[in-house]
Amino acid sequence: MSRLDGRVALVTGAASGLGLACATRFAAEGAQVFGVDLHQPDEWPGARFHVVDVADEDAVARTISDVVQEHGRLDAVCNAAGVAGGGPVHLVPLAEWERVLRVNLTGTFLVCKHAVVPMMDQGSGSIVNFASIEGIEGTEGGSAYNASKGAVVILTKNMAIDYGRRGVRVNCICPGFIETPMFRSVMDNEGMAKYRERYRDEHKLGRFGRPEEIAGAALFLVSDDASFVTGHALVVDGGFTAGMRAGVLEGLGL
Ligand SMILES: NC(=O)c1ccc[n+]([C@@H]2O[C@H](COP(=O)([O-])OP(=O)(O)OC[C@H]3O[C@@H](n4cnc5c(N)ncnc54)[C@H](O)[C@@H]3O)[C@@H](O)[C@H]2O)c1
Repeated sequence: MSRLDGRVALVTGAASGLGLACATRFAAEGAQVFGVDLHQPDEWPGARFHVVDVADEDAVARTISDVVQEHGRLDAVCNAAGVAGGGPVHLVPLAEWERVLRVNLTGTFLVCKHAVVPMMDQGSGSIVNFASIEGIEGTEGGSAYNASKGAVVILTKNMAIDYGRRGVRVNCICPGFIETPMFRSVMDNEGMAKYRERYRDEHKLGRFGRPEEIAGAALFLVSDDASFVTGHALVVDGGFTAGMRAGVLEGLGL
């Protein structure tokens, strides 16, 4: 038996990167997976795909209601829709700040708001929000993005407190730098290319992460293996936040 047999899952940001990796893994584990994104991917591993902006409350409410009507339940939600953006605060236009917060924070809030109701009704459910290590530690020029992700961490913990007695678990994942289209859009731009190695080396495993490695963590959190895990910010970062490594032990082969 697969780990998500008979489960109904909704994944946002499902057309790309981490959302698509989660949808693919959940479907392989037996779930009926519904995708949400601004556009449909060429190949969709799940049941149905909804072209929806996660910051549009009516569309989010309608989509979740359609999924629940079709299957009578909603067991797992993965909030992976997100955008990069920021810069040092004095250079960030208000419109840029609002664009990032609108998707990363408001979008996550809206999907949580409408998904948690059917989960409470059925007395079970697991929500996994996508934060970031940049939501628990600062990074240069992080501003809007990092603020949005820090807010997702605390939103997650608050929801865990509010809905635990109703059988709903709420956790978030804080990935390190994972090779996805978003990662490439940041790392491949002209100004960043020369810092790429520095970022890679901060991961103590000596490499960037792969989307499947985040999907594995998401699978754990939505599965019964995590039945006593809620309110947790799970860092999956190849050791990026473990501490400083200067290379002092290189002479010992470490
Ligand atoms: N890749 C990384 O290194 C990394 C690290 C930490 C956290 N994250 C977070 O993980 C999540 C997934 O990132 P990714 O790297 O897969 O990025 P990605 O750009 O590959 O995928 C994000 C998806 O979200 C969708 N999206 C954007 N705005 C949307 C909206 N308004 N409504 C619906 N969908 C929308 C995009 O169309 C895209 O398909 C994001 O929240 C990101 O902030 C990524």
